[in-house]
Amino acid sequence: MLSKYFFILGLFFLSLHLSAQQQVNIIPQPVSFHLNNGSFIIDNKTSLKFNASGKGLKEAARFFAGYIESVSGINLFENAGTSKVIELKLEKVPGIGDEGYLLIVTPVSIIISANSTAGIIYGMQSLFQTLPAVRTNAALTVPCLEIRDYPRFKWRGMHLDVSRHFFSPELVKEYIDLMAAYKFNTFHWHLTDDQGWRIEIKKYPKLAQVGGWRVDHTDLVWGQRPQAVDGEAPTYGGYYTQQQIKEIVAYAALRNVTIVPELDVPGHSAAAIAAYPFLSCTQQPQLPLTGGNYTGMSSNLCPGSDSVFLFLQDVYSEVINLFPAQYIHIGGDEVDKSPWKNCTKCQARIKAESLKDEDELQSYFIKRMEKLIVGKHRKMIGWDEILEGGLAPEATVMSWRGEAGGIAAAKMNHDVVMTPGNPVYFDHYQGDPATEPLAIGGFNSLKRVYEYEPIPKELDEQQTKFVLGAQANLWTEYITTAEQVEYMVLPRMLALAEVVWSPKEKRNWNGFNDRLQTHFRAFDQKGLHYSKGNFKVDIKPASQNGLLFATLSTEAYKGEVYYTTDGSQPTLQSKKYTEPVDINSSLVLKAVSVVNAKIMSLVPAQQFFVMHKAIGKNVTYTNPVSRYYMADGPNSLTDGIRGTNVIGKYWHGFSGKDLIATIDLGEEKNIQSIIVGCLQNYNDWIFLPQSVKFETSANGADFEELQTVSNPLSINEKKAQYDFKVTFAAKAIKYIRVTAKNNLCPPGHSGEGKPGWIFADEIIVE
Ligand code: ACM
Ligand code: ZN
Repeated sequence: MLSKYFFILGLFFLSLHLSAQQQVNIIPQPVSFHLNNGSFIIDNKTSLKFNASGKGLKEAARFFAGYIESVSGINLFENAGTSKVIELKLEKVPGIGDEGYLLIVTPVSIIISANSTAGIIYGMQSLFQTLPAVRTNAALTVPCLEIRDYPRFKWRGMHLDVSRHFFSPELVKEYIDLMAAYKFNTFHWHLTDDQGWRIEIKKYPKLAQVGGWRVDHTDLVWGQRPQAVDGEAPTYGGYYTQQQIKEIVAYAALRNVTIVPELDVPGHSAAAIAAYPFLSCTQQPQLPLTGGNYTGMSSNLCPGSDSVFLFLQDVYSEVINLFPAQYIHIGGDEVDKSPWKNCTKCQARIKAESLKDEDELQSYFIKRMEKLIVGKHRKMIGWDEILEGGLAPEATVMSWRGEAGGIAAAKMNHDVVMTPGNPVYFDHYQGDPATEPLAIGGFNSLKRVYEYEPIPKELDEQQTKFVLGAQANLWTEYITTAEQVEYMVLPRMLALAEVVWSPKEKRNWNGFNDRLQTHFRAFDQKGLHYSKGNFKVDIKPASQNGLLFATLSTEAYKGEVYYTTDGSQPTLQSKKYTEPVDINSSLVLKAVSVVNAKIMSLVPAQQFFVMHKAIGKNVTYTNPVSRYYMADGPNSLTDGIRGTNVIGKYWHGFSGKDLIATIDLGEEKNIQSIIVGCLQNYNDWIFLPQSVKFETSANGADFEELQTVSNPLSINEKKAQYDFKVTFAAKAIKYIRVTAKNNLCPPGHSGEGKPGWIFADEIIVE
């Protein structure tokens, strides 16, 4: 009996030890990491040792002990004087900088040493990742290990928009906890925007009391919400009191998270204007916006008005007193400068300051903001539009419209933070939109985030030093709950953590996925919401010399791809993908991700191909294709690849002009039909052409009309895909010209009277 008992006990200890080992899956990947034999047990005989005079160490020790108690019930402070110690040691450690740490676990001690408390805090965070995720009320087993670690970048940021939706202080703290767990150090708090002002300002109380509340139209999607009308109760919103802000700032500081506040000016200020109409050029009263309908609203401050600058002086003084951060974010993005053109004060300012135009007026405004901020011994950071009209002398640039702004700023010896929409806008989809919760658009999967490299190739060695780091942004037009916030950042913020912390050469997609599984289990235990992955198969069609093929891939962890080409739903009995698929005829390819013999894609990815007589033939355009919608290159209309329901994919876009395309078939071919495939997407200003004219020519110069086909659908149709087609008795043709007539946005549309877009995917010649 006895031996059997010991045998079972032995097994128990063995598995305990193994499971402890398995759980050491630290994200972000440390610089160096060694797992050793044995373990340290945190129990009622373990005490915490630290030098109470070390700067911030006492608070850090309390934070540490609090965490240990929360997962085990063990109070390290009650065990003072015992021989088994966890020691927090501030000392000189070469080569690991301000935020680095050493974590050494042996059977008799755990020692975290660092040059600063920040490093100690990160050592703790790594240690926490070896512990159970939730309370166990048992001794804690920490495997023996040695970690030497420090970050790659000094700006490791996460942003949260609390204007489009107000989030409680509890959610903000949870967000900061997540950031701290993955060693982010900068929380960019987007506190004001057109749809809500979220910070109490003592001198201007109406900013929060009026600007913080709007009429509730949450039941409608952002772009379709009606504006508020007088008399409707503004019931939706909230704001943070200065007392709450102070608490959150302190909460973050304890976790080595600095909060960079953003009060977005001079644009995105409709909520402030609702509170104080004197701030705008027109000075007309208005109500806080309920969503994306800006018709007749002012969203810009008036830089021609001196009282606006006095207001900003007061507001920013209060903000700077609340936030100890080195950086203050002034926004500066997306200013529609047309109201300034019609404002006598703005025009007078332009004249008085000898400014060239409204771009320079924006620059004038930003430079005055910088003076104000620098006068208070802080640094100004703004979105990349602050480059327009001339950059303020010491400004730091946050590059969001791609990396171009960041590259330009670094070349001018200005600091930059990289936060390009693609791939670090976390309000974008992370999986197949067909199966994900509604999001604003875009597609930034976990893998794309993981593969992001913040240092652009365009910068030389010297210039790369200006890249402070990177940040993900979470705009909340489509995010209204704490659960959704979690879902959109998890697990993508773990991927970004590794981008900004770990050495570049240590990044490894498969290894990251292996480690991620442990974090998924922790999320499950803690009840955190997260995306389980992008299971949409990526179908990459390509055409070369008139031949078509497709490569298929999946991001799914340990995933395989199964596909069909006969239009049927792929199953586990379908073909397994091993090499590029040749496309020899018109067909639809459908594909699913499979993990552990289970189909993970709820909806198969699919791609249509058409074989026809113009495949691979040269197309010339009278009006150029928009550089934003190039599809797969200049001959996209003759590549055999039909557009998908994703606007960016395989559609050629033409803005405000007609699509006039001429195809040279190279030789006379016997033709009897021509089709132009077009898209309508009303909300994105994309309309089917009014009509398509089909013409042919023998010499490429003199064209003869076959027919003009009118659009049979209403211009108010929300979404449509339509093939404009002409058929005729077969004849020999060498040149074809199609002319698709553009539309203006129709009456009632948010762009009424402005030029629309034409989107086309293929000219099919048969
Ligand atoms: C931004 O996304 N407007 C900075
Ligand atoms: Zn003005």
